Order: sequence, then structure tokens, then C-alpha cells
Amino acid sequence: MVGNRTFSMIKPDAVRDGQSGSILKMIEAAGFRIVAIKLTYLSSERAGEFYGVHADKPFYPSLKAIMSESPIMALILEKENAVEDFRKLIGSTNPANAAEGTIRKQFAKSLERNAVHGSDSDENAAIEGSFFFSNLEKY
Ligand code: CMP
Repeated sequence: MVGNRTFSMIKPDAVRDGQSGSILKMIEAAGFRIVAIKLTYLSSERAGEFYGVHADKPFYPSLKAIMSESPIMALILEKENAVEDFRKLIGSTNPANAAEGTIRKQFAKSLERNAVHGSDSDENAAIEGSFFFSNLEKY
């Protein structure tokens, strides 16, 4: 299934503000199948592990704090060309640059509180999916 799956997270403030249903609706309307879904909590330490690639960035402490404020929704999504198509659906990391009709354009509050995460490669989709789910070959 390489190329057909991606990983996503609906971030704490979007879950808290009751936006997960609307976001899931946009995801399904765009042709993604929800393979796995989990509402769970990331401690600051686990959030730091998930975003370990950003450990040397100035925004890392704030990113850890924001991602551990309250529960997140973890998702594995399936569609042909999943990683690239999902990144198009969510829009630019900075919502100021996100195109009309994208999830971030509609729901992001700022660069740090940008509503959703989407994997940037097939390799990272597999790594990030395994961070939250096991026995993925059964899904
Ligand atoms: P995400 O796609 O989840 O990947 C890393 C996150 O770090 C990103 O979304 C933003 O929420 C945040 N981020 C990326 N760049 C910056 C930045 N320059 N300043 C603050 N936060 C950032």
C-alpha cells in the first residue's frame, strides 16, 4: 500500500473547539477513507518525541506545549497518492498562505495553531502512523 496511506492529527485546539466533525467531513468528501482513528492525549514529552525533527527550532518548546494542552485526534487515511493529495487538502503550514477551500484556511488560528498535521512523505507517514497505532497491516 506504499503511496496510498498518510497520517494526520487534528490538533488540540481544533478538537477542543468542536471542529473535528467538520474536518473529518472535509477529509471524507475529498475521497479519503478513514483506516484508523483515535482520540488520545499527548504528554509534552510524547509531543516532543513526535516532533523530534524540530528539536533545534526556536518554536519547539511552544509546539510541545500547544500539542499537549488537551487531546488530539490521530488518523490514518487511505487514498491513491495520499501524502501529496492530503497536503493539498490541508493547505500551507502557515494559514496566511493557505488556499481557499483548504482545511487550514477554514480552521487554523495561526501558524502554531494550524488545526491539522499531515505527513510530508510516505516514509514519515509510516513512522508517524506507527507512533499511534500497532498491527497496521490488519487495518
Ligand atoms: P505541522 O505540519 O504539524 O508540523 C510542525 C509544526 O510546527 C507545524 O505544523 C506548525 O504548527 C509548527 N511550526 C512550523 N513552523 C513554525 C514556525 N516558524 N513558528 C512556529 N511554529 C511553527
